[in-house]
Amino acid sequence: MTRTPVIAGNWKMHLTRRKSSALARDVAAHHGHAENRRCVVFPTFVHLDHVRRNLKNSNVVLGAQNCWPKKEGAFTGEISPYMLRDMGVQVVLLGHSERRHVIGEEDALIAEKVKLVLRAKLDVMLCIGETLEEREGNRTFEVLARQLKSLKMVKPGQEGRVSVAYEPVWAIGTGKTATPEMAQSAHAEARSQIEGILGAEAAARMPILYGGSVKAGNAAELLSQPDVDGALVGGAALTIEQFGPILDAASA
Ligand code: PGA
Repeated sequence: MTRTPVIAGNWKMHLTRRKSSALARDVAAHHGHAENRRCVVFPTFVHLDHVRRNLKNSNVVLGAQNCWPKKEGAFTGEISPYMLRDMGVQVVLLGHSERRHVIGEEDALIAEKVKLVLRAKLDVMLCIGETLEEREGNRTFEVLARQLKSLKMVKPGQEGRVSVAYEPVWAIGTGKTATPEMAQSAHAEARSQIEGILGAEAAARMPILYGGSVKAGNAAELLSQPDVDGALVGGAALTIEQFGPILDAASA
């Protein structure tokens, strides 16, 4: 099974409108219409419209960093996946570790989001990953299994719109990257859990990205692992000088 590599930039709560527009133009120019890799960017909500306009003339996919699991209603400060779709968004990042551990989102809420995002006909990129304490307590696989249960919300026919990003919490923004062997072992385990939930074919097709201090210098080695199908990049996604070589590593 060959899976097209996916390189995604999570811009988090960074950049101004002008800088995110400029970065979008740089990413669009670098990626162009490449078909041997997919490129996704996740700007903050208020920059989505500008970024979308600056991605034109490329097949870079526009993503949003989060949403609320309701179509509409009295949810002050929240954003519906239907509003995101209306903005031209194609994929929503869900369950990022900063939402789980800083904001306090739990698996049940994330599962509701998975369900509604798919119902709104958008794609899901579900983030999973263990904390340092969980890794040291030998609980990594148990944590992945628990977090992947949100995929029980995926209905037959929706599997192709889902990807997973394995991001060990201790590797995010810390400069500490999992070794390629550690990443491979977690990805293989995640794929076997996905098989248990969605079946062998969906599991074999599903892209599983690695995230956590990915940079130009370590991307190629991580991507060479058989179950590492791409990278979700934070800090190194904020300039084309750093993100460009990571994109190139995916099509090398
Ligand atoms: P990082 O962030 O590349 O800065 O470690 C990755 C992420 O949080 O998605």
